[in-house]
Amino acid sequence: MVPHTPLRYPGGKRRLNEVVKRLLDLNGLHDVHYVEPFAGGAAIAIGLLFEEYASYIHLNDLSRPVFAFWKTALEQSDWLCGRIENVRVSMAEWRRQRAIFDDADQAAERDLGFAALFLNRTNRSGILAGGVIGGKRQTGKWSLDARFGKPELIRRIQKLGRYQSRIKLYNRDGLEFTQNVAANLKGPTFIFFDPPYIERAGRLYLNQCTLADHQALARCIGELAKPWIVTYDPAALEHHLFPKLRRIVYDIHYTVNRRYRGQEVMYFADSLRVPKAADLLGSRMRAVSDLSRVPLRRKKIPPRA
Ligand SMILES: C[S@@+](CC[C@H](N)C(=O)[O-])C[C@H]1O[C@@H](n2cnc3c(N)ncnc32)[C@H](O)[C@@H]1O
Repeated sequence: MVPHTPLRYPGGKRRLNEVVKRLLDLNGLHDVHYVEPFAGGAAIAIGLLFEEYASYIHLNDLSRPVFAFWKTALEQSDWLCGRIENVRVSMAEWRRQRAIFDDADQAAERDLGFAALFLNRTNRSGILAGGVIGGKRQTGKWSLDARFGKPELIRRIQKLGRYQSRIKLYNRDGLEFTQNVAANLKGPTFIFFDPPYIERAGRLYLNQCTLADHQALARCIGELAKPWIVTYDPAALEHHLFPKLRRIVYDIHYTVNRRYRGQEVMYFADSLRVPKAADLLGSRMRAVSDLSRVPLRRKKIPPRA
């Protein structure tokens, strides 16, 4: 599967693309407003748009650098492509872009948008606040331009620009956005929530969510009339975020860092028809537990056999 998004994303959900398509098909949801309140790299959303599953995609992210990137890519794509074409991908440039990112509140939006893209493509695992590929002395196996393929980045941004009228951007808190925007969209709608992990989200991306925030979000999601799914780390099970709703637990294969290899849980709106876990996940992902709404008794879910 060729990625469409220009952003690499730690914990990106591209591998769930087929899962979302299966759910949309099974539930007769065509030409939907597809909504991501925690959009990040938005890999699934863009795939659904290009494959005409979605008539509109709504991308919300509270991170100013992430939002600035999307806004610039859509509204100033010629300028952004020019910057990509002409930039020299060097450590001196990395330091300049890092300084813009570190002063995100003061930066001009399009400069911040370019800085977000530059750091996303030159940092390890795409972590904006993380370390540069190859290290500051550039003595590693790869150099910082290893993931900065200019022609492909420009191609992806130009293609996005052609879909501009069908991509809506927001820079709001995910809970507030859900209550005031997502819940009120007219027409068939599907919402995919991918909030920061409860545990170990660390500095992968913007994360200011406390457990109380996650609990408030879970209550809001549980009351939505529109169909939705949400993915979380298994801490959601331990904290009983959605005690009465159906879920599956599945293996994930992060490349960010071995410590992040593990499992995720996906919860489903009651209104959704959901197949057996194996049918939903397909052959490339492995279910750890089938569809269930039985509350978790043990403190921790069992490790993989
Ligand atoms: C797990 S990542 C989403 C990854 C995305 N699904 C993908 O495939 O690229 C979580 C995202 O939520 C954003 N975020 C963190 N706190 C937020 C909040 N309170 N409201 C909205 N977005 C938030 C982060 O900036 C980050 O991009």
